[in-house]
Amino acid sequence: MPTLAHITDLHVAPLPPVTWRQIANKRVLGYVSWHRKRKHEHRGEVLDALCRDLAQQAPDHVCVTGDVTNLGLAAEYARAPEWFARLGPPERVSVIRGNHDAYVAMPHAETLAHWTPWLAGDDGATAPPTLRRRGAVSLIGVDTALPTPPFMASGRVGQAQAERLDALLAQEGAAGQVRVVLLHHPPQPGVVGRRKGLHDAPRVRAVLAARGAELVLHGHMHVPMTAELPGPTGPIPVYGAGSASSAGTGRMPPAQYHLVTVTQDARGLRLAVTGRRYDSARAAFGPAPSDAEAPFAA
Ligand SMILES: [Fe+2]
Repeated sequence: MPTLAHITDLHVAPLPPVTWRQIANKRVLGYVSWHRKRKHEHRGEVLDALCRDLAQQAPDHVCVTGDVTNLGLAAEYARAPEWFARLGPPERVSVIRGNHDAYVAMPHAETLAHWTPWLAGDDGATAPPTLRRRGAVSLIGVDTALPTPPFMASGRVGQAQAERLDALLAQEGAAGQVRVVLLHHPPQPGVVGRRKGLHDAPRVRAVLAARGAELVLHGHMHVPMTAELPGPTGPIPVYGAGSASSAGTGRMPPAQYHLVTVTQDARGLRLAVTGRRYDSARAAFGPAPSDAEAPFAA
């Protein structure tokens, strides 16, 4: 049973130099927001501390649930693999996109092509949903990112992807795998408004309710959160992590991430999800008080 780390919303700093032509669109709002506020909140030294903590915790696999970039710039895409490599080789690091990674429509060759080794499923395909089996755990990567108008940060899965998700969940469930669904936007109701939410979340919840999953991991909210969604044999635990780069000096809580272990005991399979949180005074991560354990029916 591999152990997993779940990190999200890296918003890697600093922002690369931009031309006016590159930001003469929705990006101008993000550019202004970055320089007025976000660059003070998303800090490179926090990501450095995260890398040190991950090296100590030594998970078998790292899941990154999106928002690696800030403005979805080609330069941000091109440099991200250097950062992924600090987490581990592509076979041990799985990445999906967030809304900031699709800020405006961009050519594939300038964006996702750079991330193929980290995005692709075991079959080499990058079209979502992707499937990576790591021992008894099946990681299913769902892409909710799409370019949106200014002031929007919403997401969508779409019918075709939802149908393939349904088939993958059924296939991996029949194989007895521990199914972990990765997506950027939270799929549960009531945590985010329409402007920033997953527009077809009911469709995703219907698939999960019918086929089941053992765990859902998401980002987007920049705060740690837990929820449950109905599954065919019981509730499905849903965990959202905080931003991995937040210094915690503004309104946003400090950086936080999850460690997931799957164990077998007399009661059956159990998932344990624990939190690690950044402490700016020590410039280091430590246990988060919101540790929780979520049992599930195998
Ligand atoms: Fe984000």
